[in-house]
Amino acid sequence: MKQDLIEQARAVLARNDRGDYTVPTHGLYPFQWNWDSALSALGFSHFDEARAWREIETLFRHQWDDGMVPHIIFHEMNDGYFPGPDVWATGRAVPTSGITQPAVAGFAVRRIHARAKNRGLADAQARALLPKIHAWHQWFFTNRDPQGTGLVAIIHPWESGRDNSVDWDAALARVPTEGVAPFQRRDVAHANPAHRPTDEEYRRYIWLVQHFRDLGWDNSRLHDASPFRVVDPGFNAILIRSCLDLAALADDLGEAEIASASRAFAQAGIAAMDALWSETRGQYLCFDRVTGELIDSPSIGGLLAAFCPIPEHRAQAITQRLEAIGATVPYLVPSHDPAAPEFDGLRYWRGPVWLIVNYMIADGLQRAGQTRIVQRIVDDSLRLIEQSGFAEYYDPVTAEPCGGSSFTWTAAMVIEILNAETTPA
Ligand code: DGY
Repeated sequence: MKQDLIEQARAVLARNDRGDYTVPTHGLYPFQWNWDSALSALGFSHFDEARAWREIETLFRHQWDDGMVPHIIFHEMNDGYFPGPDVWATGRAVPTSGITQPAVAGFAVRRIHARAKNRGLADAQARALLPKIHAWHQWFFTNRDPQGTGLVAIIHPWESGRDNSVDWDAALARVPTEGVAPFQRRDVAHANPAHRPTDEEYRRYIWLVQHFRDLGWDNSRLHDASPFRVVDPGFNAILIRSCLDLAALADDLGEAEIASASRAFAQAGIAAMDALWSETRGQYLCFDRVTGELIDSPSIGGLLAAFCPIPEHRAQAITQRLEAIGATVPYLVPSHDPAAPEFDGLRYWRGPVWLIVNYMIADGLQRAGQTRIVQRIVDDSLRLIEQSGFAEYYDPVTAEPCGGSSFTWTAAMVIEILNAETTPA
């Protein structure tokens, strides 16, 4: 069974492999996506280390001069996706989008390096990537935390990776739609519209893109000029964890300066994170930097916070939250609280389970010693695959496969999970 699933997962990766990068899935996402790539490299690393390194190398080849690593790289033309390069108009030789995505590369690179069999290749690749990943982390704290709070804001829902989360509803409602050029969505031709964000959300997504484009994609201006500025605990936990992993990697490679700067970022972030805790909800919440208030929305963002070091009693509380949710749905971890009125088990980030988030939550809680809930998350993840294949996401109640099929990072997570017992953490 195990070997069979690994073979199937490898076939998905092979199908989406474009040589130097993978597409998340055929049709719906025909380019390279930032966090998809970094997480997919983990899957490749179990059977082709050179290919895993190439995935991340390609991503960083398109890093901007200011340090940002864009969320999409448009390697080849394809009019099956909207918004394409003409809408972003970032002026790059190989076109890219103009916003970023969760900074998972530091974590992935350290993990791939730590367990690599080809040590020479791993050291050479990690040494080359180290300053680039560090520059990206510095970019975050300079441009997305201009007041030096220790936590960074996203300025577009797409940056979070959790595009249409309930977390953004109120903040996104303040984004205007006047002046948005008429457009035709392409995603709904590839996936069931009931699984995707709404047209109204798309108009606001595109308003933000046009607004940033009008500001010349100058990252020193975008944060303050954006009507959407939200501090997401999950997004920050990924960045903090990557800073810590980069510090450990830098220690291994004798790069003391990068190690201490990365640790300083992480420590400031960990200290600031506690202000996002909600005693009532028993989890972390997003913070709206425009209104100066916490956003009372019980989403998976506040559980994903466990991916970075958090106090033991907080990890226990998050475990209790997961146990309570797990008593009401057969598959953990729904992306939004199933008891909340906004919960929608089919619609993208408003309820469905995503394997990559399951993996990160399980990884964090494993380190926190919460092994029982970790086993439940892992078991649920594998049951979803066995029942519904390698989908983009799944209904946590019915296991219905949603979004795109033959999905790269879902397959990569299966390879990663099934190999876990044979590889060091
Ligand atoms: C999409 O197009 O749906 C992506 O999530 C945004 O990058």
